[in-house]
Amino acid sequence: MLIYSFSSPEAVGKFAANLIQAQVNLKPSCVLGLATGSTPLHCYGELIRKYQKKEVDFSQVTTLNLDEYLGLSPKHDQSYRYFMEKNLFSQVGLTDKQTHVPTGESQDSEKEARDYEKLCLSHPTDLQLLGIGANGHIGFNEPSSSFALSTHIVELTEKTRQDNSRFFASLEEVPKKAITMGIGTIMRAKKILLLATGSSKAQAIQKTVQGPITPETPASILQLHQDVVLVTDLEAASLLNEQDLPLGTEWRKEA
Ligand code: PGA
Repeated sequence: MLIYSFSSPEAVGKFAANLIQAQVNLKPSCVLGLATGSTPLHCYGELIRKYQKKEVDFSQVTTLNLDEYLGLSPKHDQSYRYFMEKNLFSQVGLTDKQTHVPTGESQDSEKEARDYEKLCLSHPTDLQLLGIGANGHIGFNEPSSSFALSTHIVELTEKTRQDNSRFFASLEEVPKKAITMGIGTIMRAKKILLLATGSSKAQAIQKTVQGPITPETPASILQLHQDVVLVTDLEAASLLNEQDLPLGTEWRKEA
């Protein structure tokens, strides 16, 4: 794992956008795995600026999003399809044909999960962007007693529902279930770009990087991936300890 830490969330977003731009320029027909949440917003803003300046062209890119709430239509302003349209797709020329987000409204959500996994298998991801939950979740893979491998339906924890309730009128409105890529789906990506900002993520980052690999901290599995870049601000990196980094982990800090 390669860790970069920067002084601000804006700098994290800029650096992440540079890596995504490099991926797209290197392989214009690449597959990008994308994430929602507040963390990637600086990165998406930077990608939009690059697109406007014609520094990056998404016309041949395919995207696969990690997850979606069950029960929300794509038009609901808290659905992840809506989030992606608003914060990235519509602003960089990414069309419906190129972009994939699991369907939260399917009559048969188990079938939707199986179909989405097949879609992921047929579009091997070149670069997967990830945020992390305060409880160590990636996508909606919540702390659990075992790693769920493929795309599946998940019951959201109270912690996650509470964390996300800031976007809804009330906690009651936050869906109780979601569809998410599994840990195995995520681990197949050739490269993983994990972003974390803010002190609320410090403990999750410490456990992800230095803790035991356990489904209780889903992101800790990333220690076993051969190409992970973790980009943090100082607050999210505040509990990392240089002396205790696992062998092969390198930490580069903004001067
Ligand atoms: P956040 O969510 O970026 O809004 O903190 C990240 C996540 O829960 O994966």
